[in-house]
Amino acid sequence: MPEAGNFPAGQPTVLITGASRGLGLEFARQYAAAGWNVVATCRSPATAGDLQALAAAATSVVVEPLDVTDDAAVVALAQRYATQPIDVLLTNAGVYGTLAKQSLGTMDFEEARRVFDINALGALRVAHAFLDNVARSAQKKIVSLGGGLGAQSIGSLFGGHYFMKMSKAAHLIAMGTLQTEVKDRGITVAMISPGRVDTQLMRDSGWTGESLKAADSAALVIARIAALEPSMRGRLVTYDGKLIPW
Ligand SMILES: NC(=O)c1ccc[n+]([C@@H]2O[C@H](COP(=O)([O-])OP(=O)(O)OC[C@H]3O[C@@H](n4cnc5c(N)ncnc54)[C@H](OP(=O)(O)O)[C@@H]3O)[C@@H](O)[C@H]2O)c1
Repeated sequence: MPEAGNFPAGQPTVLITGASRGLGLEFARQYAAAGWNVVATCRSPATAGDLQALAAAATSVVVEPLDVTDDAAVVALAQRYATQPIDVLLTNAGVYGTLAKQSLGTMDFEEARRVFDINALGALRVAHAFLDNVARSAQKKIVSLGGGLGAQSIGSLFGGHYFMKMSKAAHLIAMGTLQTEVKDRGITVAMISPGRVDTQLMRDSGWTGESLKAADSAALVIARIAALEPSMRGRLVTYDGKLIPW
């Protein structure tokens, strides 16, 4: 296994948050299969069996512990990787939150703090810490898994789900603002909506309708990351390339 910042030269590098399962695990698998160096971060490597199996089989995959709500841990990981260019910083970690705790009459604002810390602050915290790594890479992309629920055009169509909607709205403005600040460094910031995907997060949302398999959605998101256009900078875009209006 390569040491931090010591991947073989000549192949692009992606850092993924929340790679223990769901979309994050699929991103790790598919980028590794495509020949990328993969820094796959997750809260509890010891219990991330599928991710560990991937790392055991693929020499270009490193698993690192990272809770995106932990300020010091995010900074410490960035320091360990200080010399490592990161072509795609994929801030994927997210939670839906418990539905009953974000419904009128039963709101629990401690749950709001938890969901915000992961979904909104987590993405910005990681982007802030790894900005120089992205700036010195060839591809220079910061991509978050966005949720249309954070856009007024979608989130206000139905009630409830407050903290998920609010956290994703905060995430959108954070990444949009970041884009304006880093465009002179040639960095592209974008949020990509992966569709409705059959993961734990989707089950937590209460959705029981049709959904994409995580492997299929991840492949579409990876293709979109490779084909980001200038008009998508600072915006939320669907995996198939449509801009989602606020
Ligand atoms: N599924 C969908 O339909 C859908 C739709 C739109 C957007 N998205 C977005 O896609 C992203 C991935 O979600 P998913 O659908 O793949 O859900 P998932 O299967 O529930 O995976 C969520 C991941 O986030 C990690 N995570 C949670 N809290 C964390 C923390 N504090 N620090 C680090 N990692 C943390 C989880 O790790 P643990 O194993 O440690 O809990 C897990 O690996 C999310 O940002 C979500 O909002 C998903």
